[in-house]
Amino acid sequence: MMNLPFLKKKKTLDFGFNQLAYSRELVYCLKQRILDTEEAKYLLDAFPADIKQKFRECLFEPDNPKIKDILDFLLKNSETAKIIKRFPGSAEAFEYLYLAYDPNKISPVDRYYLKSKAGIQIHRRLTALRDNIPFWLEKIYKGKKLLIDNIASGPGRDMIEVLKKFPGWRKKVQVRNIDIDPAAIDIGKRLVKEYGLEENFSFECKKYSKAELRKADLVILVGVLCPLPMEISIRVMKSMRLFSKPGGLIICSTAQKELIYDDPLTDFLMKITGWYMDYKTDQDVSRILSATGWKPIGEFYDEPLRHHKMTVAQLN
Ligand SMILES: C[S@@+](CC[C@H](N)C(=O)[O-])C[C@H]1O[C@@H](n2cnc3c(N)ncnc32)[C@H](O)[C@@H]1O
Repeated sequence: MMNLPFLKKKKTLDFGFNQLAYSRELVYCLKQRILDTEEAKYLLDAFPADIKQKFRECLFEPDNPKIKDILDFLLKNSETAKIIKRFPGSAEAFEYLYLAYDPNKISPVDRYYLKSKAGIQIHRRLTALRDNIPFWLEKIYKGKKLLIDNIASGPGRDMIEVLKKFPGWRKKVQVRNIDIDPAAIDIGKRLVKEYGLEENFSFECKKYSKAELRKADLVILVGVLCPLPMEISIRVMKSMRLFSKPGGLIICSTAQKELIYDDPLTDFLMKITGWYMDYKTDQDVSRILSATGWKPIGEFYDEPLRHHKMTVAQLN
């Protein structure tokens, strides 16, 4: 057979398709589109001219050395960035969003975080928990006080909000908040006192792996799986089985891919300050549940953007 060298694979490659150059072009296109959005304009308005220029250059380029100047600026001009840098993943960053500080009294960068889609959806996640948890409590309430373990609870605002809005549940639940951060636990204790909920809550400031097991009716795991890769998420969800009684429920949240799709700018700011998310898909969540013996029985979201999926599952 005649040899046709120009059809060989190598020849095709010699046309010069360069994967790296292609990726750079895609990043460039994405950057331009995102820099054209209202959100980006709002953020860039919070920067002085030199930082604005550097931010335009460094967007989505975490290895760019100019990132350091942007980080220095953020740390001098944003409480949110300071909190995240000090303790990525701490509940304190959320506190800043939950308390909805007077926008006129905070720095322009913090105002950006408050008004960002990701920031607003964190607030909506809390509201979704407050409004949906009672539905699931109703399903498992059999006349005996329900034991609820809130793992890595932060201050435990979710159940505090439930009992504030639905006082009928005060006689029916006992909640244990477990968190390693003493600052978060102190905020929780203060809130519980302020709302007269002391009888409903206990607090343990420790690693959850050190907590005594009490076979809860409901385990709450919110904001914990969000940064964890799949294998570690699976390990954590397996350990959650120990906290639950047979047939007990878990409500666990995951940060979904929708978040980075909707708000890549805030995700990039978080990455600069050292807080990395591992965004999940519905398939990822199903895989985590089936690998750990939790049977999915429902879900709810931080409507309308659905950045956070709250999965309700039952211990098999
Ligand atoms: C992103 S915050 C979520 C807090 C809360 N669940 C919420 O939704 O607002 C994660 C929390 O996990 C806590 N944490 C991290 N590792 C922990 C561990 N091993 N045991 C207990 N708490 C832990 C942190 O202190 C922090 O309060």
